[in-house]
Amino acid sequence: MMKISIWIILALALVNLALVVNGDDSEKTIVKTVKGKKLCKRGWECLDWSEYCCNETISDIFQPYQFENLFSNRNSPVAHAVGFWDYRSFILASTSFQHLGFCTTGGKATQMKELAAFLAHVGCKTSCGYGVATGGPLAWGLCYNKEMSPSQTYCDDFYKYTYPCTPGAEYYGRGAIPIFWNYNYGAAGEALKEDLLSHPEYIEQNATLAFKAAMWRWYTPIKKSQPSAHEAFLGKWKPTKNDTLAKRVPGFGTTMNVLYGDQVCGQGDIDAMNNFISHYLYYLDLLGLNREDAGPHEYLTCAEQVAFNPSTSSPSASS
Ligand SMILES: *[C@@H]1O[C@H](CO)[C@@H](O)[C@H](O)[C@H]1NC(C)=O
Ligand SMILES: *[C@@H]1O[C@H](CO)[C@@H](O)[C@H](O)[C@H]1NC(C)=O
Ligand SMILES: *[C@@H]1O[C@H](CO)[C@@H](O)[C@H](O)[C@H]1NC(C)=O
Repeated sequence: MMKISIWIILALALVNLALVVNGDDSEKTIVKTVKGKKLCKRGWECLDWSEYCCNETISDIFQPYQFENLFSNRNSPVAHAVGFWDYRSFILASTSFQHLGFCTTGGKATQMKELAAFLAHVGCKTSCGYGVATGGPLAWGLCYNKEMSPSQTYCDDFYKYTYPCTPGAEYYGRGAIPIFWNYNYGAAGEALKEDLLSHPEYIEQNATLAFKAAMWRWYTPIKKSQPSAHEAFLGKWKPTKNDTLAKRVPGFGTTMNVLYGDQVCGQGDIDAMNNFISHYLYYLDLLGLNREDAGPHEYLTCAEQVAFNPSTSSPSASS
């Protein structure tokens, strides 16, 4: 009996020790060890036991003023989603992904690079910047939250049994990295536990969901045998011989291949590709990192890469 209570007291003391490691109450890290592996929970952002939660969370490395710097014109009178996007929604959305390693992998520099890369896709896809816009063309991310003049409803009948379209619903581009088509709304809805097949409009009404859908896209390979953008960026994916022949190497370039295929990649040095790279480098600057941290040009570009999924043979996730 005595022995057991001593152990309990010891255990409690250890938990307490873990709690005081971080002074700020909102970011308490709780630590346990399972089979030699250190697992943590951290604050309200990292709520599931995970090795990633032992590292700093996104709000530790990314402050509200930095969000404002990156997306400085989003509430300008000429923007198309005034009042929609905010820092809080971004952090709230990320709480579903931080324990999976989203911007919590590999220490602060790597975390910030993934943040810059993810937000570069967001900024570029939602930009209404053009050559002579105030602040330059890179200062207009989060100007949109939906496709403006969709030419179709993006209902693919091939998926009528798995992801049947809801009569009247339209599956045009919505979100921070816009998703299109009934099958993407269906799959995202399953993952995020929202009935997006019946209510695709939820994404344009709720910024947390709009960021979550983008994070789902970042985390979900187009095909099971392929990497997600997250894995491709961090090198959590081992290129096969075919990948190497197709010049697909871990890095920012391959995230474009995963997300957009031959719309952006394998077309040489085109504007559509360079626009993503420019956003990435600009955000690295604004976050106080060096452009050199992005690594050599071959990691940045996908100009010479063969698309994972050529658009002629299979539906692309982003068109
Ligand atoms: C946490 O950060 C450290 C560096 O501070 C890094 O070495 C480690 O890999 C990170 N943990 C995970 C699970 O990525
Ligand atoms: C927006 O979506 C989030 C995440 O799915 C949800 O928790 C929240 O309740 C939604 N907000 C509103 C106003 O519906
Ligand atoms: C590699 O590429 C070749 C030629 O494109 C293809 O026939 C083969 O199925 C690929 N192998 C794998 C494992 O993807």
